[in-house]
Amino acid sequence: MKIFAYGIRDDEKPSLKEWEDAHPDVEVGYTEELLTPDSAKEAAGSDGVVVYQQLPYTRETLQALADQGIHQMSLRNVGIDNIDLDAAKELGFKISNVAAYSPNAIAEHAAIQLARVLRRSKELDAKVAKRDLRWAPTIGREVRMQTVGVVGTGRIGRVLIQILQGFGAKVVAYDIFKNPEIDKQGLYVDSLDELYAQSDVISYHVPSVKENIHMINKDTISKMKDGVVLVNVARGDLMDTDAVVAALDSGKVSGLVMDVYENEVGIFNEDWEGKKFPDARLDDLIDRPNVLVTPHTAFYTTKAVLEMVHQSFDAAVAFAKGEETRNAVKF
Ligand code: COI
Repeated sequence: MKIFAYGIRDDEKPSLKEWEDAHPDVEVGYTEELLTPDSAKEAAGSDGVVVYQQLPYTRETLQALADQGIHQMSLRNVGIDNIDLDAAKELGFKISNVAAYSPNAIAEHAAIQLARVLRRSKELDAKVAKRDLRWAPTIGREVRMQTVGVVGTGRIGRVLIQILQGFGAKVVAYDIFKNPEIDKQGLYVDSLDELYAQSDVISYHVPSVKENIHMINKDTISKMKDGVVLVNVARGDLMDTDAVVAALDSGKVSGLVMDVYENEVGIFNEDWEGKKFPDARLDDLIDRPNVLVTPHTAFYTTKAVLEMVHQSFDAAVAFAKGEETRNAVKF
């Protein structure tokens, strides 16, 4: 059996080698190139491909795999919002993701960044770098004094709730699917409007499905507390970026954590140093003292990368053998 992986990065190679050593019966091929209709040819003769989400996987791309008899795709990440699922269904694809490579990686990132916004760390770091060692005006706020609204109580949202409770924050939560543990703690509010009204900080942990696109918009922001801090480490298109920029300008939003951006494809995970930056709005956000931008790296920890590689290859093999895998995606 042969499994072919696309977009393999240097930091994934040790985990890939470990998996290969443990599976001598499986032939592993890989390229550093991402999967495109052109590069699909490199998987010829393979039983399945392993990819991760960086480009849209269009009908054309899926067709290029299907033309070579490949009808399975194992993602090394969780989100499947870049895949043309209608085409995948029509072409008879099986798809797996890695649903829980490390919820902690993402939840920790959200918690760290939200605490940094509250403590004005970006301004303080800039002052210290200039050897300005005065306290004022960078006085911070304590996490335990905040009511934090957590939108989405899946694995990531739940780990974040635990971390926030460790800090002593008051947590309120909203989800259309209630988790029994969170329910038992009485954290759910009945509506998003209620969460907006109560929260000093709002952190989003929901997928990019059509109901959620631009759920952070002019109207919903107007229902939030003045000076609210927003945290989006989930998907860029949850946020109408223009509306958030306007709210930052007016002070309605006093701080923003963004690990994702609605136009991030082709911009994030590239080195722009010394080159013309392609997005003026993002350029401006990066420069703001109360905005923390990271390039979709909340997931990026050694534990997460190892799990992403190992679990995606396990799933690819299971598909190829016609076996069940807990990481199969129903679509
Ligand atoms: C995901 O797992 O869906 C992520 O957002 C991480 C990234 C490698 C695409």
